[in-house]
Amino acid sequence: MTTTVGLRERAGEAPITMLTAYDALTARLIDEAGIDLILVGDSMGTTALGYESTLPVTVEEVKSRTAAVARASEDALVVADMPFLSFGVDDSEAIANAGSMLKEAGADAVKLESGPHTVELTERLTQLGIPVMAHLGLTPQHVNQLGGYTRQGTTQTAAEEIMSLAAAHENAGAFSLVLEHVPANLAREVTETLDIPTVGIGAGGDCDGQVLVISDVLGLTEDVPPFATAFGDVATAMTEAISSYKHAVEDGSFPNAEHSYIEDTLEDQF
Ligand code: KIV
Repeated sequence: MTTTVGLRERAGEAPITMLTAYDALTARLIDEAGIDLILVGDSMGTTALGYESTLPVTVEEVKSRTAAVARASEDALVVADMPFLSFGVDDSEAIANAGSMLKEAGADAVKLESGPHTVELTERLTQLGIPVMAHLGLTPQHVNQLGGYTRQGTTQTAAEEIMSLAAAHENAGAFSLVLEHVPANLAREVTETLDIPTVGIGAGGDCDGQVLVISDVLGLTEDVPPFATAFGDVATAMTEAISSYKHAVEDGSFPNAEHSYIEDTLEDQF
C-alpha cells in the first residue's frame, strides 16, 4: 500500500511510478499492475470529457471520477487534481474543495498546479491533514498565459524561479512535486536539492519517478506529446473489437444459442 510517508522514504531509491486514470475499470488494471500512484488528473478534460483544454473541468467532475478510481484501487495512492479556479481565489473555498476530494471522493491526496500563490495554501492544507502534491514547470491551467503547452524553465531566471518555488513548496509541507516539460538538467538539480520525491513528465530520467497520461501510454491519443510514448496500441484493438461486434450483429452470428435461453415454464404460445 503506497503512503505519502513511504514515498518520501523511497526518494532516490526505487523509481516511483504514476499514471492517470479517470474510471474504475482502468484504475483497477493500473492498481493490479502495481503502479504506486494514480492521478485523477484534470487531463480528463481533454481525454475523457472531450473539452478543448483542462480549463472547463469542474470540482464535481473530478470528484465523481476520483470516487470511481478510489473504489477500484487497493494499493495505489489516489491523488485528485484540483481543477482550474477551484483554488487560488478564496482560501476557505479552496480548503473546502480540497477537503471534499478526501471526505466525499475518497482521495488520499490532492495535486495543485503550483506557483507563488499556492505556498501558503499548501501549508494550510497540510496542517489540516490534506496531503499536497505540488506541480511546477508547465502548468496547463496557465495555457492562455503561456501561449501554448510550451517547455518551461529554459532561461536562467525561469529555472531559478522553479528551484525557489520547489523549495518553498517542500518547506510548506508538500509530500512530492510533479515537474512537467522542463529541461532534464533543471529537473536533476531540483531532485538533488529536495528531500521530497520529484515525479517527472517531460523532465528527463533523473526525477525520483515518472508520470504519464494513461491515454498516451495505451495508444489512444492521436497527438501524443513529444515527451510521451505509446506503450501499446489499444485504439487498434478497440476498433477491431467494435467492428467484429457490428459485423456479428449484422450477419446474425451474435447472439447465438449460447447467449440465449428458452424459459420452459412459459405458456405454449411462446
Ligand atoms: O492532469 C494531469 O494529468 C497532470 C499530469 C500530466 C501530471 O497534471
